[in-house]
Amino acid sequence: MSQDTEKKVAAEAAALLVEDGMRVGLGTGSTVAFLLPAIAARKLDIRCVATSVQTEEAARALGLTVENAAEVDRLDLAIDGADQIAPDFWLVKGGGAAHTREKIVAAMADRFIVIADSSKLVPRLHAPIPLELLQFGLQSTLRLLQSVTLRDVPPSPDGNVIADYSGAIGGPDALEAWLSSVPGVVAHGLFQPALVAEVIVGRGKKAESLKRAF
Ligand code: A5P
Repeated sequence: MSQDTEKKVAAEAAALLVEDGMRVGLGTGSTVAFLLPAIAARKLDIRCVATSVQTEEAARALGLTVENAAEVDRLDLAIDGADQIAPDFWLVKGGGAAHTREKIVAAMADRFIVIADSSKLVPRLHAPIPLELLQFGLQSTLRLLQSVTLRDVPPSPDGNVIADYSGAIGGPDALEAWLSSVPGVVAHGLFQPALVAEVIVGRGKKAESLKRAF
């Protein structure tokens, strides 16, 4: 079964979780590209926050109301894709360089739902881990991080530099703590399991819901 079919199946299952009156966070990427029309087709009275300019434009073009994220303190639901999903629900995100805004929107939401095709389920996380770095002091930040490559993409919408950490992962807890401690790292693409309420994965033509064991 093609990855696109699995992305669509997962996205359409997640769209059914959206209810009238909700405030909804919209992720970024090729899986979310299937989510937006599926939500719009339901003609619900909802207000959205987008994690990227590209999602904002696509959502508006479909008739969805997108609000200024700076003015929203809480969302009912956020739905987004992922690059890697480990069995313990650690995620790697940021393949599309939107991980900083994506993490903020995930944290805004009462429930953060991940949608993915089955290729995103991995036995353990691996490099690269996307980074967003402040331009100020960049050479020093790169020296402190050591195993980092600058990505050949435009700056983030917040004016920062996109890069990828290619060193050892070891335990994601320790790597998460270390990356967060390096001055100049605006955000990294490791998302903690505590952020994730549910993973909806497309397997063939079926959507499967995975929930974390608490
Ligand atoms: C965007 O920066 C990413 O975090 C995406 O959410 C992630 O890369 C998944 O993208 P796809 O749905 O395109 O695989």
